[in-house]
Amino acid sequence: MSAKRFMCVLSAAWMLVLCAAAPVSAQPANYDESKVPAYTLPDPLVCADGTKVDTAKVWTEKRRPEILALFEEHVYGKAPGRPAAVKYDVQAADNVLDGKATRKQVAVTITNNGKSVTWDLLIYLPKNRPGPAPVFVGPNFTGNHSIHSDPGIRLPSSWLRNAAGNKATDEGRGRSSRWPVEKILERGYGVATIYYGDIDPDFDDGFQNGVHPLFYRAGQTQPAAGEWGSIAAWAWGLSRAMDYFETDADIDQRRVAVMGHSRLGKTALWAGATDERFAMVISNNSGCGGAALSRRAFGETVKRINTSFPHWFCDNFLKYNDNEGACPVDQHMLIALMAPRPVYVASAEKDDWADQRGEFLSAKHADGVYRLLTNEGLDADTMPGLDAPVIGRISYHIRTGGHDVMEYDWQRYMDAADKYLRRE
Ligand code: GCU
Repeated sequence: MSAKRFMCVLSAAWMLVLCAAAPVSAQPANYDESKVPAYTLPDPLVCADGTKVDTAKVWTEKRRPEILALFEEHVYGKAPGRPAAVKYDVQAADNVLDGKATRKQVAVTITNNGKSVTWDLLIYLPKNRPGPAPVFVGPNFTGNHSIHSDPGIRLPSSWLRNAAGNKATDEGRGRSSRWPVEKILERGYGVATIYYGDIDPDFDDGFQNGVHPLFYRAGQTQPAAGEWGSIAAWAWGLSRAMDYFETDADIDQRRVAVMGHSRLGKTALWAGATDERFAMVISNNSGCGGAALSRRAFGETVKRINTSFPHWFCDNFLKYNDNEGACPVDQHMLIALMAPRPVYVASAEKDDWADQRGEFLSAKHADGVYRLLTNEGLDADTMPGLDAPVIGRISYHIRTGGHDVMEYDWQRYMDAADKYLRRE
C-alpha cells in the first residue's frame, strides 16, 4: 500500500474510533453505581516492603520514587531524560491581540541519533505584567492556530485529524473554544501551548513517527514493554516547554501550571508526576488512565482504552485488561505524586464515560499524602454538587454540561492559581 493510501486508511480508522467513543469490546460499559465491583486500593502510605509512610522524608525519599517507578513500568512507560541537543528559534511579536499581549513562537528542535523533530511552542504573555509572568501550559488537540484567530500563529505542518488531507489550513484558525486567551491574560497569566501531534501523531503507527524513533537503541524499532507510549511522549514534550521557560526572563518558571483536557488531561497529570518543576497540575475530564480510579471499571475501562488506543500506554498496561486489581497502582496514587503542589481535578456532569465519581475518589484518596506533607488536602468528604467548586491544595469541581473545557473551568483554575501561585 502506498504511504498516502496508508494514511487515508489510518485517518478513516481514526474517525471510526472517535465517533464510536470507543465501544470496542463486546461487553457494554457499566454506568450503574450498584454494579461497581468491590475493590481494595493500594495504600499510597505503605511502601512495597510494608514500611509505613509517616514522615515527609519517607514519602519523598522512598515511597514517592517507588510509586513513580511503578507507573512508569506498568502504565505510561519510561521516557528518556532531558535531551542534550535542543535548539530554540524564537520569533517574538509585541502588542498583538489589540495590544494586550506579547506573542512568542518558539520552534523547538530536538536532535538525537541523527534524527530530529521540530515543533512550535506558542506563548502569549500579558502586556502589563509586574514581572515575569506565571503561565498555564497545555497541549492542544487541533493545532496552535486553532486556539485563537490571531493570523500570526504559524500553522502546524504535521498530521492533523479532521482536516482535509490531514493538513492544517487557515480555515482551522480560531476554531477551538477551549482556550479563552484574553480572559487568561486579563487575570495576569500567560498561556502556552503545543500541538500534541507535533510531538507524536495520535494514531497507532508502531511508533515510527514523532519523537520515539529519535531514542531507539541500535536495532530497536519500537518501545519495549515498559517504555513510553504516546501519553508519556506528550508529557515529555511538555517538560521540554518547561526547559524553554527556564531560559526566558519574561516567564516565571517557578509559577507554571500544566493543564490538559481528556487524553491531554491524562498527559498533564503524567507531566506533573514526572516533572516537579510544574508548580500546579490540572486535569480536565481526564477519565480512564487519568484521574479516574481504574478499579471501579465504570464507563471506560482499562481494556476498552487499551483496545481503542493501543499506543497511549506502555505494553505492560495490557496485563490489566479485565484485571485492574492486579495493577500495583491506581490513579489516586498518580494524584498523590503531585503533592505537595496544588492539583485540580475537574469533571463534567454529562461525562459518565470518564467516571466523575472515580475522578473525585482519586482526589479524595490522595488526601492522606497531602495532609502528611502540608496539613491541607481536599476539603470535601463527599462529592460536591454541580458548579460548587472546592478549592484547596487538592481542588475538585463537577461542572454542568458535557465533556469539554469551558470558560467556567478556566476561571476556577485561575481561582486556584491565584491562591497557590501568587507571588511570594
Ligand atoms: C476517548 C477516550 C478517552 C479520552 C477521550 C479524549 O473518549 O475513550 O479516554 O479521554 O477520547 O481524549 O477526547
